Amino acid sequence: MKKRIAIFASGSGSNAQKIMEHFKYSNLAEVALVLSNNPEAYVLQRADNFEIPSHVFDKKTFYETEEIIDILKRLEIDLVVLAGFLWLVPQNLLKAFPNKIINIHPALLPKYGGKGMYGDTVHKTVLAAGDEEHGITIHFVNENFDEGEIIHQAKFKIEAEDTLEVIKFKGQQLEHQYFPKIIENLLKKYN
Ligand code: GRF
Repeated sequence: MKKRIAIFASGSGSNAQKIMEHFKYSNLAEVALVLSNNPEAYVLQRADNFEIPSHVFDKKTFYETEEIIDILKRLEIDLVVLAGFLWLVPQNLLKAFPNKIINIHPALLPKYGGKGMYGDTVHKTVLAAGDEEHGITIHFVNENFDEGEIIHQAKFKIEAEDTLEVIKFKGQQLEHQYFPKIIENLLKKYN
C-alpha cells in the first residue's frame, strides 16, 4: 500500500505544492490530506488544484481535543509534514506520531530558530549577523520550536551584494529541491 502523507501549512504552501507534484504519480506515497489553521491560506487552493482533500481547524480544536489525531489516524497517515506551519505541535499529537512529524526551517539550525524566527525575520537576522553562508534545515519535530533531530541541511554562500530577496529566493529554491526528496527517502525506510 502507498504511504500516506499529511501536510500542515499556514500560508502560501509553495513547499506543499512541490510535495504534491512530486508524489502525484508516485508508487511509493501520496499526499492524503492538507491541513491548515488558516481558512484564507493559499495552500488550500493548491490542495484543491490537486484534488487533495483539506481540513481547516482552529486553536481550541488543535490544543484541547483529539480531533486532529483522530482524522490523521482514520486516514492512516504515515508521515506528518509541516511546511510553513506556525503553531507548536501539542504533546498528544507528538505522542501519536513518534518520529513521524517533520518540519522545514529556512535557516541552518541550531542558528536562527525558535519562537518568532520565521519568514523575513530569519533572513534579516542572518544578513545583520554578516554570515557567510545560509541554508535550510529539515528536521524531526519535538515539543520545542525548531529543536528536533536534524535530518538534512543544504547551504549556499551569501555574496556581498545579496539582498534579503535574493537570499530568500536561494533558500526557497533549496527547500523546493530537497524537501520532496528527503520525504521520499524517509518513507522508503518505513515498512
Ligand atoms: C518556508 O520558508 C519554510 O522553511 C518555513 O515556512 C516557509 C513556507 O513557505 N517553515 P511556503 O508556504 O511553503 O511557500
